[in-house]
Amino acid sequence: MMNSSRREFLRAAAAGMACATALRSAASEGLIEVLIDEPIATIAPEIYGHFVENLGGVVYDGIWVGENSAIPNIGGLRKALVEALRRISPPVIRWPGGCFADSYDWRDGIGPRDKRPKRTNFWAGAAEWPANARHTGPQSYDPNQFGTVEFTRFCKATGAQPYFAANMRGSSAQDFNRWVEYCNSPAGTTTLADQRAVDGEREALNVRYWGVGNEAWGCGGSFTPEDYATEFLRFTAWVPGFNVPLAFVGSGPNGNDLDWTQRFFAKVAQKGELGRVWGWSMHHYAWNASGGRTTDWAAGKGDALRFDAEQYYEILREAYQMSSFITSQWAVMSEMDRRHRVKLVVDEWGAWYAPGTEPFAEALLGQQSTMRDAVLAGLTLDTFNRHSDKVGMAAVAQLVNCLQSLFFAHEDKFCVTPTYHVFDMYRAHQGAQALRTLVSAPAIAYARDKGTGSLPGLSCSASLRDRTLTLTVTNPSLDQAREVDIELRGARGPSANGAKAVTLAAADAHAHNSFESPHAVEPREEQAQAGGARFTRRFPPASVTKLEIALA
Ligand code: AHR
Repeated sequence: MMNSSRREFLRAAAAGMACATALRSAASEGLIEVLIDEPIATIAPEIYGHFVENLGGVVYDGIWVGENSAIPNIGGLRKALVEALRRISPPVIRWPGGCFADSYDWRDGIGPRDKRPKRTNFWAGAAEWPANARHTGPQSYDPNQFGTVEFTRFCKATGAQPYFAANMRGSSAQDFNRWVEYCNSPAGTTTLADQRAVDGEREALNVRYWGVGNEAWGCGGSFTPEDYATEFLRFTAWVPGFNVPLAFVGSGPNGNDLDWTQRFFAKVAQKGELGRVWGWSMHHYAWNASGGRTTDWAAGKGDALRFDAEQYYEILREAYQMSSFITSQWAVMSEMDRRHRVKLVVDEWGAWYAPGTEPFAEALLGQQSTMRDAVLAGLTLDTFNRHSDKVGMAAVAQLVNCLQSLFFAHEDKFCVTPTYHVFDMYRAHQGAQALRTLVSAPAIAYARDKGTGSLPGLSCSASLRDRTLTLTVTNPSLDQAREVDIELRGARGPSANGAKAVTLAAADAHAHNSFESPHAVEPREEQAQAGGARFTRRFPPASVTKLEIALA
């Protein structure tokens, strides 16, 4: 039996759909309504953050080439990478892990570089290493050349804020306090501030963001939520701030584990200490391309380059789950955090494929990055924008040579991936006012295992800064372009300057950049037709588009 409120809901939904259908023009295959007068929240620039783990080719070769290298560098940092990253305005960079963080002793990475100890990297024995990888280099035996000062210089050079992940599994609360002191105690005040000066940084580094452990339910110590809550409170008690408003990020759930969140928040709230939690981290990878045949972590993974329609859509379907994960985590958090002081920090997200397409053998967990990954990035960033009232920070995993990279860098070779271009396009959203959007488009149906899978037909988000509207649209269809009506509700329409469009698309969703073909996928910029408050635009298959519209 259907109750009356459900009946009313369905009637209203049907009326809404009918209304949307009526608004669509005859030839259109979709409608996007941008509600100019319905702001959601300011989009935290930190949503566009990055992740640098000391894993495979991320740090050594990727970022750090050393001061004496023949590769152009800025104090040992790969110059091409610094410059390309600076162009996309990275707001925040997380380091040194990931799982690596819970094995890291920050003291190994300070002092004269030639005196720093060499340690076995957490990832040295990983099952995913390509068979031809040499295990003699810094990717397996960490020479600690890239420590706290080198990382914060990297951040400064690119314009980002540092976000440290502290070791909870292997270090003490005292070690954590000392790391904060090394970073933030004012010049000349403490032994560690003096050490920092010897290391080349006299002034405090003013590090604000501190992750307290990583994946505490797994590689970060296999805690129960209650035990982790106790440790979190011990680590964050009475940490001297040195005039920096420290922001502690708790290690949140595995995917959408609601029980982990509920029990952590309950324990911390019961102690009356929710005020200690600034952010709640959440990790979500899209990795199962198997169409539901298995949920086994390793066996479910597909190939980054060789994929069929089902594998293409399955990865995107998993990425789309981000939206419901955010909503359901938020609902659980709100049981204890009614005023929503704590923000979600999605500090690992992206596609994760099986080994086999690494840009070079030492790039553990390295994988090629195609237009499919650009589509995944577009719809994920759209999701964050639409949930900008909930998501305070995020970090794509990872920056270079690993998982959903923005860059490949090896020896003197360097190139950007399609995902880099998406970040460049979406930069306009940083710090702007997110606006509500309504989307009506036929869902995509695809063959999945022995049945049918389904995906939303379009993804988008919109934001307003001054009188410039930015609308980003992702068409996830593998082979169908979409003719879409765009209605700017509450606006008098574009000014005489009209609209600027940037489109990232390729004839084939498998298209990608490589050292040999670094410009195979690049965005195209054009002046767009946008006459009045309503216009039509065609979005190519497997594409990401940005429209920048100067409002009248
Ligand atoms: O990004 C690779 C790994 O994935 C990270 O180290 C860990 O946090 C996650 O499981």
